[in-house]
Amino acid sequence: MQNFEFHNPVKVVFGKGSIAELAELVPRGVPVLMTYGGGSIKRNGVYDEVKAALRGRAPREFGGIEPNPRYETLMRAVALARKERVKFLLAVGGGSVLDGTKFIAAAVPFKGRDPWDILAADAAVAAAVPLGCVLTLPATGSEMNGGAVISRESSREKLAFTSPLVYPRFSILDPATTFSLPKRQVTNGIVDAFVHVMEQYATYDVDAPLQDRQAEALLVTLMEEGPRTLKHPRDYEARANLVWCATQALNDLIGCGVPQDWATHLIGHELTALYGIDHAQSLAVVLPALLRHQRRRKRTKLLRYARRVMRLTGPAGDALILKAIAGTERFFRAVGMRTRLSEYGIPAEAAEVVAARLDRRGVKLGEHEDLGPKEVAEILRMCV
Ligand code: NZQ
Ligand code: ZN
Repeated sequence: MQNFEFHNPVKVVFGKGSIAELAELVPRGVPVLMTYGGGSIKRNGVYDEVKAALRGRAPREFGGIEPNPRYETLMRAVALARKERVKFLLAVGGGSVLDGTKFIAAAVPFKGRDPWDILAADAAVAAAVPLGCVLTLPATGSEMNGGAVISRESSREKLAFTSPLVYPRFSILDPATTFSLPKRQVTNGIVDAFVHVMEQYATYDVDAPLQDRQAEALLVTLMEEGPRTLKHPRDYEARANLVWCATQALNDLIGCGVPQDWATHLIGHELTALYGIDHAQSLAVVLPALLRHQRRRKRTKLLRYARRVMRLTGPAGDALILKAIAGTERFFRAVGMRTRLSEYGIPAEAAEVVAARLDRRGVKLGEHEDLGPKEVAEILRMCV
């Protein structure tokens, strides 16, 4: 196993009715800014529940954070938070609202030239406004990690940052808030969580059987609870299991002491930035091709995946691995996800465009940090 440090400070408050806990969790006597997205929380009652929990206090509000949250929008929230001397941020919504709020948290006290440098130039996050969240969409794991992904409309970039200072102080996960999700977002969540696990699992073996089995448990549970949720959308237990899977899929735990890949995500972010497809859609397109392309170097782990997750039998070899990857793509399709660029109307030239963009940024991808433009283009050509 590789060396690691593990420190996850997020208090998770899970279950029906847990939004009422905000009364105790949100600090009193300081200006609070509540952030949200395009209005789903007003339609499904979550906004009212939050306001009821905070009755007697008057949090400022900033709505309109869009999916793939934009720097341009978030900077307006930064200006508001500075003006109102906000001391606590409460994000209410999906991963985009939460990621956007993490950026606001880091940008408000930022002393450098432009907070965009936190994303584009690795500028240090020296301080951040504390934040908490009510999560309404199981997918990103943002509720229990220190990462955020922000898009910039003017340059069509989509970049990530991480900082120990932007972990939420608390995350309220009430699975009942997810009943109102459209099917597309449930599908997105299943696939995003699945790919988070794969990016921390399907690398090379470092003799870490516990992390392997934790990852496999998540994958198998997602393959069971995802379809169950889609078939029985009013099943609270299925929702609860899905929420907890998504949180565990990217909360630092299964990634401890093991190599991580993230090539699928980084290629996917370019597809979203350029062609506007949903985050999880981009992953469903890239992952199967990436695994096929890299299958010799990932052989040991993919054979383990074939046997323990896809439950395949037969001699250890390329055929078994290819069958497991085909099974993965079939699973994505079975939960309602398209898995090919052409199905999203993305032209074949995307392969070269994305490869050149990543190359310009000097990015080398994968667990060996050696996938360059040639490999990225090859992988994307396998996605058409
Ligand atoms: O904006 P509103 O009106 O709230 O509607 C949202 C949005 O349109 C809607 N929604 C959310 N909860 C709902 C709901 N609709 C009905 N009922 C509810 N309970 O769903 C739509 C999508 O929301 P969004 O927050 O964009 O989805 P998701 O949670 O999948 O977040 C995606 C973003 O997270 C980033 C992605 O890149 C993307 O920008 N990621 C963040 C990560 C992290 N911080 O660790 C890791 C991930 O890999 C990912 O990159
Ligand atoms: Zn993701």
